[in-house]
Amino acid sequence: MSALFQPFKLKDVTLRNRIAVPPMCMYSANDGLINDWHQVHLAALARGGAGLVIVEATAVSPEGRITPGCAGIWNDSLAQAFVPVVRAIKAAGAVPGIQIGHAGRKASANIPWEGDDHIAEGNPRGWQTIAPSAIAFGANLPKVPKAMTLDDISRVRNDFVAAARRARDAGFEWLELHFAHGYLAQSFFSAHSNQRADQYGGSVENRSRFLLETLAAVREVWPEHLPLTARFGVLEFDGRDEQTLTESIELARRFKEGGLDMLSVSIGFSTPDANIPWGPAFMGPIAKRVRGEAGIPVASAWGFGTPDLAEKSIRDQQLDLVMVGKAHLANPHWSYHAARELKVERPSWTLPAPYAHWLERY
Ligand SMILES: Cc1cc2nc3c(=O)[nH]c(=O)nc-3n(C[C@H](O)[C@H](O)[C@H](O)COP(=O)(O)O)c2cc1C
Repeated sequence: MSALFQPFKLKDVTLRNRIAVPPMCMYSANDGLINDWHQVHLAALARGGAGLVIVEATAVSPEGRITPGCAGIWNDSLAQAFVPVVRAIKAAGAVPGIQIGHAGRKASANIPWEGDDHIAEGNPRGWQTIAPSAIAFGANLPKVPKAMTLDDISRVRNDFVAAARRARDAGFEWLELHFAHGYLAQSFFSAHSNQRADQYGGSVENRSRFLLETLAAVREVWPEHLPLTARFGVLEFDGRDEQTLTESIELARRFKEGGLDMLSVSIGFSTPDANIPWGPAFMGPIAKRVRGEAGIPVASAWGFGTPDLAEKSIRDQQLDLVMVGKAHLANPHWSYHAARELKVERPSWTLPAPYAHWLERY
């Protein structure tokens, strides 16, 4: 019997299997507003059979977008545009999730296929970036951010809360806080980007403060019966990994105490000098360690997109939920093909009846 195709319950939400589509930016919104592209894209992924579909990193404020094409949820009309997306994901039998975030010093970039670098100084398409300290990421993202004041910090925390409330009202049933990938929250945690001398910098306690306060504030408005999760880079692959991982696991325990239901274990991406050991399912053992030592359910991504690896990650109790990203862009019906390969009974029925009926018969 396939472990990947067992249901997964978190709070009052039950996923039909352990397959999740992770957030993937489409860089195709205008002023934060999503459109037909996102609607069709997300509905197709949900029809493919995954248990959970998480909408791309959606900015809590205009300055929090990675690029001018990123989705946003900083006002009610932007939030309203997600209502049909939520409806389509649910109609296809998947659970609708959304990732909310702020890009920090990595914001104000050109979309990937137009350069993937910071928008040039003086170009009106760009904007002022903010971060814990006035330190640039470097490499393709050289823009020096403005160091945030305490007022800026509380404003962004409030933006996360307002975004969570709007996501709830739009009907999302799964919320992921984007605390990873070198964006704003991760850059508070990482000493690569945080050299503050106040209560938000220095000790691990202080570098964790923005993340824990944001979680606590969001927890107040996000319904208790629905999963509240975060994506967080637990290490950087920068040569200091044991220390970072130890600090991250301690933070994961505190996340759990603060009401977090699951951690999506990822990479920090806080420095362009990281030496990441890319390979199939390479985050599996790291996620398993976080799961065991922090005692929190985990998900992870990065190279799990072949059915046997995805199956193994659940069977070996590395992950509770497998994120399959690019393989879903290549094949939105990935779950159906995985079900066939793993010899799940009646694999066609991972798809909706208008497809499944015919695939079953002929
Ligand atoms: C087009 C694209 C957009 C992405 N956007 C996001 C995002 O919005 N938020 C996020 O946390 N990760 C994002 N990622 C990373 C994916 O969620 C995932 O971790 C990555 O693709 C690795 O998984 P895979 O090997 O299954 O593709 C993106 C990846 C791709 C390919």
